[in-house]
Amino acid sequence: MSKLIVGNWKMNGTTDLVDEFSRMMEADNLVLGLPYIFLSSFRSKTGKIKLAAQDCSIFSEYGSYTGEVSAKMLRSIGVEYVILGHSERRALSLLDSAKNVYRKLSNAIEAGLIAILCIDESYDQLIDKNTAKLIEENDEKVILAYEPLSAIGTGVVPDILEIAEQIVDIKERYHGVTTLYGGSVNSKNASEILSIEGIDGVLIGGASLKAAEMNTILSTGL
Ligand code: PGA
Repeated sequence: MSKLIVGNWKMNGTTDLVDEFSRMMEADNLVLGLPYIFLSSFRSKTGKIKLAAQDCSIFSEYGSYTGEVSAKMLRSIGVEYVILGHSERRALSLLDSAKNVYRKLSNAIEAGLIAILCIDESYDQLIDKNTAKLIEENDEKVILAYEPLSAIGTGVVPDILEIAEQIVDIKERYHGVTTLYGGSVNSKNASEILSIEGIDGVLIGGASLKAAEMNTILSTGL
């Protein structure tokens, strides 16, 4: 099976970019992580790309939670994936504590989404006991994205052997769960990274905003 290519637009993108991507891109192994406001319009333009949200609420039911979007709502508009616990959210908003990420993960699984759970070098601490159990029991619905802090948005990718070792360790600890690498992946380094033994795909930030970059990465055929 082809490796999974996940884009994370973060708080970027315009309606023009949504138009461009919905016209140009088509691939079974591509997932695009868009800001909430673009998900619905993207889905109405094309069903040829899988979509991810970049977060979901800790609350699972409808209710008086101003500004929140539930996993169930995402599923209801044809979103299939959700990126959770990104280091930017864990660090900046202070809301993505291990406990909250656990609640989001559990809501995502319950709603039928596939969760892409981001972890950094300190994954043994980020993944608490409850989260580890949830991953073990739902290994078809959880993907881990190993994103070393030093590699996110810096253009600096760790040594390939180092990434390979971490991927092996993560897969051993968490029962062979699907595992991606993320951090400064682009069209120049993607092929080498995707060739790492055991790696199941990549999570791409900055480069995912350029259709040409993404097409080149997809065309590696890995
Ligand atoms: P980057 O971001 O590809 O821009 O380094 C990756 C990420 O934050 O997921």
